[in-house]
Amino acid sequence: MQAHSDRMRRQGKTIAFVPTMGFLHEGHLSLLETGKAHGDHLVLSIFVNPTQFAAGEDFASYPKSFEKDAQAAENQGVDVLFAPEATGLYEPGYETYVSLESLPNHLCGIFRPAHFRGVATVVAKLFNIVKPHVAIFGEKDFQQLAVIRRMARDMNFDIKIMGAPIVREPDGLAMSSRNTYLKPEQRPAALSLYKSLVLARQMVAAGETGAAAIIEAARNLIAGFSDTAIDYVAICDPDTLDDMDSLDRPALMALAVRVGTCRLIDNMMLVRP
Ligand code: PAF
Repeated sequence: MQAHSDRMRRQGKTIAFVPTMGFLHEGHLSLLETGKAHGDHLVLSIFVNPTQFAAGEDFASYPKSFEKDAQAAENQGVDVLFAPEATGLYEPGYETYVSLESLPNHLCGIFRPAHFRGVATVVAKLFNIVKPHVAIFGEKDFQQLAVIRRMARDMNFDIKIMGAPIVREPDGLAMSSRNTYLKPEQRPAALSLYKSLVLARQMVAAGETGAAAIIEAARNLIAGFSDTAIDYVAICDPDTLDDMDSLDRPALMALAVRVGTCRLIDNMMLVRP
């Protein structure tokens, strides 16, 4: 992969890179579209990264559909599909990790303490292997995008990091590979995330500026659906992810809710009219 990227670079190509864990959906395809628009050599990686899963999480059962993904990649105009083995990326004796000081101590990082260390590490490794000019990540994983932007800046990666908007199902559910874990009867509960974000937007449009009132309304809405357990509902600064009390400037509303065994996340910007 490194030799190939060197060749492409020597030919003057702009390498656009979309890292994924596979089981591709429309959200991933939109990242590839963005990649195509910003580069002339498109690389997709599929790698279920063991270091970003804690014991008891879904590493072993993470959904896979390699053949289907490979076909989708081809249809989407992907030039290289890079799918390394875990043993190739983490060889025996591996002991180097990238961890950030502050951004992971918020939102999902509180519930998944080693997650962003694993993400930052594998993304740094993939950047050094794929050598892209531009890399695209989904805004659904807002904290992940913030972590990667910070890591790329702090570590002087000469790579443009781009975010791409959340892609939703027609009913509003944010697309995610993990949606496959949802049973049909859990769909209304899964939709409570999107509904609470829409409610928050409506409250802000109607003049509400207090974060606590919005969070309480969202929590009540979600709790009204059976089979839901809230990890967090937060209104925070989109750069630092620190909690905000008042919507005196644009804020990120982010939430994580477990529906049965499926952990869902979603987010939306709240901006006063
Ligand atoms: O968002 C994902 O699919 C993963 O966290 C990523 C960025 C590919 C790193 O493993």
